[in-house]
Amino acid sequence: MKKILTIIFLSAALQLHAQKFEGLALTPPMGWNSWNTFNTKISEDLVKHTADIMVSSGMKDAGYVYLVLDDGWMSKERDNNGNLVADPEKFPHGMKAVADYVHSKGLKFGLYNCAGTLTCAGYPGTRGYEYQDARLYASWDIDYLKFDWCNTDGINAKEAYTTMSKALKTAGRPIVFSLCEWGTNKPWEWAAPVGHLWRTTGDITAQFDSLRNEGTWVSNGTMWIVDMQVGLQKYAGPGHWNDPDMLEVGNGMKPSEDRAHFSMWCMLAAPLMAGNDITKMSQASRDILTNKDAVTIDQDPLGVEGFRYTAANGLEVWAKPLSNNNWAICFLNRSSSPQKINFDWQKENIYDSVSKQQFNASASYKIFDVWSKKNLGNTSSPLSAEVPSHDVLMVKLSR
Ligand code: GLA
Repeated sequence: MKKILTIIFLSAALQLHAQKFEGLALTPPMGWNSWNTFNTKISEDLVKHTADIMVSSGMKDAGYVYLVLDDGWMSKERDNNGNLVADPEKFPHGMKAVADYVHSKGLKFGLYNCAGTLTCAGYPGTRGYEYQDARLYASWDIDYLKFDWCNTDGINAKEAYTTMSKALKTAGRPIVFSLCEWGTNKPWEWAAPVGHLWRTTGDITAQFDSLRNEGTWVSNGTMWIVDMQVGLQKYAGPGHWNDPDMLEVGNGMKPSEDRAHFSMWCMLAAPLMAGNDITKMSQASRDILTNKDAVTIDQDPLGVEGFRYTAANGLEVWAKPLSNNNWAICFLNRSSSPQKINFDWQKENIYDSVSKQQFNASASYKIFDVWSKKNLGNTSSPLSAEVPSHDVLMVKLSR
């Protein structure tokens, strides 16, 4: 009896402290976001066209379901009641009509705002309007909110994001809450009860392994972002993910670099938010984004982020434990020349400290190459291969 009462008390206490909607984002969210390609040049037509293509291109079937409008969807002023207003030129039928269209395609719809007084692009921020904005989003049937961190001088990040999380909860519609605080205040240490994903870094840019000077700040090439994930593995899990920013596949890197970038996001159990113009996407970009074997690694229900196992001379080996004691292994060549590998599985000791999963070196796992779709034998003999520059060999091991 005492035990039952304790369980009832504990679950009631947990409910009281549960700030966010639980059960959302049990695997990393997947979708498309307007920012990386369109900045603030967004419109109802763009949303409709993108939604149509998400369905017809196979993106939706591959798992990309959230269509998210980033900064620039609002008018510069709130209305007389203090409500946010969708820019009437960009969205002549209002935002509810846009949400309805997206929903009619079997997709989900998301919007952006900011914890500060203004968004990064200078539109009205949510500071002081958290509950009112949350009610508006719920009335428009929004499914996802990305919440940025510009113009927040003097604000405590944990408090600001907690307030918005509570406002969403109070408004009553289950909304995935995506924190975009750039890792400044280590959200991985406090955001799991507050949101479903949190950015770990500043903005990404479509460069492979370099920084880009943006004037007053720098954006990060894909491999710089990968380096910044090291040490954060233990903070991610079902319902609460490290977010290394949106994808740059199709935005100007070489196909091999896009493939390496995408593979690493899958190894990291990262949210997969495409950031290219999918209405004009090349077959190469489409093939990368919709590679079901890669996506399945990202979306594995065990929900464990991969980790860097070894790194030497620009060649890195990353490992991700998967359900059923399977593994994903990614050989990543960051160097400017091809690299030969001769990986003797039986001599390796691959252990994941988060899931406590151990690679069984004496067992024979089947090896499947996720990109060539070929079986590469099994782990009883060493794997010999050449990995081209700025590319990967990504395999799934199963028994
Ligand atoms: C910040 C975010 C980006 C994007 C822009 C919009 O830079 O980190 O992802 O949302 O703001 O202005």
